Amino acid sequence: MKTSIFALLVLIIGGGARLSEAAAYKVGDSAGWTILGNPNYTAWAISKNFKVGDTLVFEYSKKFHNVLEVSKADYKACNAASPMVAYTSGNDSITLPRRGHYFFICGVPGHCGAGQKVDIRITKWSSSSPAASPLATTTTGANSGAATNPAAAPRPNGAATAVAPTAILVFAQAAALLYFVAYSGGLTA
Ligand SMILES: *[C@@H]1O[C@H](CO)[C@@H](O)[C@H](O)[C@H]1NC(C)=O
Ligand SMILES: *[C@@H]1O[C@H](CO)[C@@H](O)[C@H](O)[C@H]1NC(C)=O
Repeated sequence: MKTSIFALLVLIIGGGARLSEAAAYKVGDSAGWTILGNPNYTAWAISKNFKVGDTLVFEYSKKFHNVLEVSKADYKACNAASPMVAYTSGNDSITLPRRGHYFFICGVPGHCGAGQKVDIRITKWSSSSPAASPLATTTTGANSGAATNPAAAPRPNGAATAVAPTAILVFAQAAALLYFVAYSGGLTA
């Protein structure tokens, strides 16, 4: 039972995360993918919080540039000879399917060396905080459900019991403590 509730929570949180996560990032922002003005793509990538399912959009003049996805070694060495994938449309959307590093360079001679290269990283910790909101909504729903529960109707003594579960728990603990104090006090008297 506990396991199935936990699985349900994971589903709710996971579903919310998937819905809220997918974002599209234009590489270099307004500068795009270029060597003009020497954009610092390392600084650009660091300023983002990439998540699984996000999309990179490389916009550039296809007469002057391209986008090659390469290995880490080829990224470091600016080696354009053995790309894993080559993009040449001038407006390439690349979805990031999983965690890890993605290395892109421009394959035109000299451009990678001039800084037209970007290292995209999706870490284990790159999760979105909006994922918390579906859970919060669920909790609020449970609380308002308790308020309309017939069991929460006023008692004969008029004391309203339509209070939050946390308050009931605190009250029960306080009552138990008072009982314990009174009982042990009675023993020593
Ligand atoms: C680009 O930005 C990174 C991170 O802020 C910095 O370490 C690096 O020195 C910069 N590179 C250049 C060429 O300015
Ligand atoms: C590039 O493609 C996106 C859609 O993927 C579109 O919104 C955008 O206008 C395009 N940019 C250019 C310069 O064609």
